[in-house]
Amino acid sequence: MDRIRIQGGRALNGTIPISGAKNATLPLMIASLLTDETLILDNVPRLADVALLQHILGNHGVDIMVSGKRAGDNEHTGQSMHLSASNIVDTTAPYHLVSKMRASFWVIGPLLARMGEAKVSMPGGCAIGTRPIDFHLDALKALGTEIDIEAGYVLAKAPRGLQGARINFPRVSVGATHTALMAASLANGESVIENAAREPEVSDVAECLQKMGAKIDGIGTSTLRIQGVKHLHAARHAVLPDRIETGTYAMAVAMTGGDVTLAGARAELLQDALDVLQKAGVTVQTTNEGVRIARNGAGLAPVEVTTAPFPGFPTDLQAQLMALMSRASGTSKITETIFENRFMHVSELARLGARISLDGDTALIEGVEKLKGAPVMATDLRASVSLVIAGLAAEGETMVHRVYHLDRGFERLEEKLAACGAAIERVAG
Ligand code: EPZ
Repeated sequence: MDRIRIQGGRALNGTIPISGAKNATLPLMIASLLTDETLILDNVPRLADVALLQHILGNHGVDIMVSGKRAGDNEHTGQSMHLSASNIVDTTAPYHLVSKMRASFWVIGPLLARMGEAKVSMPGGCAIGTRPIDFHLDALKALGTEIDIEAGYVLAKAPRGLQGARINFPRVSVGATHTALMAASLANGESVIENAAREPEVSDVAECLQKMGAKIDGIGTSTLRIQGVKHLHAARHAVLPDRIETGTYAMAVAMTGGDVTLAGARAELLQDALDVLQKAGVTVQTTNEGVRIARNGAGLAPVEVTTAPFPGFPTDLQAQLMALMSRASGTSKITETIFENRFMHVSELARLGARISLDGDTALIEGVEKLKGAPVMATDLRASVSLVIAGLAAEGETMVHRVYHLDRGFERLEEKLAACGAAIERVAG
């Protein structure tokens, strides 16, 4: 298994290109199941999760072609992916595939809407909490689906097609909003989704569905109104920039000091997180190229943050902020409200010298003068990258194990950081 070795203490200076968003790419790829015509996605990031989903969709019969290099492309240019689900040959998503990536459960909505049936393995638990699927199933039931659970599989049937319905989620769920939106797009009549997730990735998928012929009102708000149509058709859509990758590198620069432009980033996708950085004393500036992040000399002020659905502070940046605040001059407070067990990074950050105490869903981070390099490992994607951020500022060598977590969601992380002056390399084996 590959590892990442970091010699801490170097400032970051230069430009980091921001890739297409993983959490938009995955549902956009899944949306290809809704039509027998070709969906072309541009700006697709090269990530392990994308490759895995290609495999999963291939199992349903989706033909996928990734374009080669075009004139003017460089290694930072996202991929163009052609997905054609002209023949869905299998409506089962088996355990051995779904258990590797939770988001693949979301095939249930389009399979059901298009084929009238789906058999999808329950995704199971994961390192950041129990993550149930009840909202997905309740939404599908409201749309007229018969649901049975058998031997770890959800058996979903809508022999007479899906019927438009009113769906009111008890709490905001990104995944359940994707499921309801995709299913409602091909249902008979009107559906209204209340308390829908407003995450930019949900809006990106909704905009792509519109290009495919779906009739959706209220995109970007918590009430989505969908007028079902009989067929969706071919479309071409560019994936929006990854706000979590943007926020992660912003925190890395805030941590090490320096001056970096995050090229292609869009500040409005993570305004709350950028405001927190500004409160901590970091310079944040929107430029023609993207977002510029700088910290020169000044220390970091502590902050109080509570994670929340968009437009609040994202849970997917919580671990990175915690790494950053481990060097603040004072005590910070971070409350996690989205996932009940998303503090797995705390004990690893402590190995680098961070002083963090946990009380239920709240972490108190007492800033220290210095972190010191150590071997560390993490159990999920964002936790792993928080260790990289801490390692970039720690004295001496940090070795991050289980790099496959990083490869799931960060495209060429070590290359992007090394190009800005970090002493970071991948060690094979
Ligand atoms: C998406 O997960 C993201 N994944 C997550 O990013 C992200 O952390 C999360 O949204 C929150 O923003 C992708 O987009 C692929 P939810 P999702 O349904 O959709 C509860 C990363 O690191 N809930 O919005 O699975 C749930 O337990 C990943 O890239 C139910 O109770 O999250 C949680 O407490 C990790 N029942 C809350 O809702 C349900 O049926 C929000 O989860 C569904 C969810």
